Amino acid sequence: MRIVKFMKFAMPLLGALSLSNAYASGGHVELADVTIEPTPQAVKAGAQIVLENCVQCHSLKYIKYRHLKEIGFTQEEIDKARGDKGMNDSLERGMDINMVRDMFGLVPPDLSLMAKARKGGGVYIYSLLTAFHQNENGDTDNSVFPGIRMPDVMSYSFASSEAEKEEIQKTVKDVSAFLVWASDPNAAKRESIGVYVIAYLLLLTVLYYLLKKRIWATVGERQAAEQKAKQQEKASGSHPQTSEA
Ligand code: HEC
Repeated sequence: MRIVKFMKFAMPLLGALSLSNAYASGGHVELADVTIEPTPQAVKAGAQIVLENCVQCHSLKYIKYRHLKEIGFTQEEIDKARGDKGMNDSLERGMDINMVRDMFGLVPPDLSLMAKARKGGGVYIYSLLTAFHQNENGDTDNSVFPGIRMPDVMSYSFASSEAEKEEIQKTVKDVSAFLVWASDPNAAKRESIGVYVIAYLLLLTVLYYLLKKRIWATVGERQAAEQKAKQQEKASGSHPQTSEA
């Protein structure tokens, strides 16, 4: 009885220890060597795929249907995606929460900020979705997230040819681009504002420089005038106070 209690207490600790050992001994995973460019085409295409393949299990609570307009969805496309939900509704999980919990033993995480939450961002998401493979037992596993409870929804591990794999990689790139956009929808706007801010600061710098030159010019003039006055005083031998009066 006692040993059972001890084991219950000790096992998670041992687990944590062996996990940290795995990391210490280079258990860290290599991410794919790709760049994820959130171009408007990629973001829109990715959104379409996420709406079709991810939102049954995952919510994107910070993204609302009306936001899809910003990435090029037409009203018609949004209406098709939202069904009876409002334009101001968030992208909610399609499945009932108890049902997903029963299926996976946990609630799949919200994806709106996932690209910010994981080291590597979009590259992590790309790597994760293309890291599914069949292990020696014929079970699906994931080399980026071993033992992940998410199924291989993009069917990467079932691709039977290189061409098919490449096709899925391209799709997954779009998915990742969309999730990068979703984690910071105002990034593009901010960048364009940034250009104006920098132009404004440059203009201010020039103006201040000109102003400084003017101020110092008058200082120089005054100094020269004082110098001249002093020389004249010396020459005439008079007292400065009387000469000024
Ligand atoms: C059938 C349900 C299901 C679908 C569909 C699904 N996922 Fe998941 N997903 C999960 C579950 C369950 C987890 C939690 C895995 C875990 O922690 O073991 C998860 C976790 C994740 C994670 C987090 C991994 C981490 O590092 O914690 C990402 C990213 C993710 N999913 C992306 C996606 C994307 C993108 C799609 C669509 C292409 C998708 N998922 C579709 C069930 C699903």
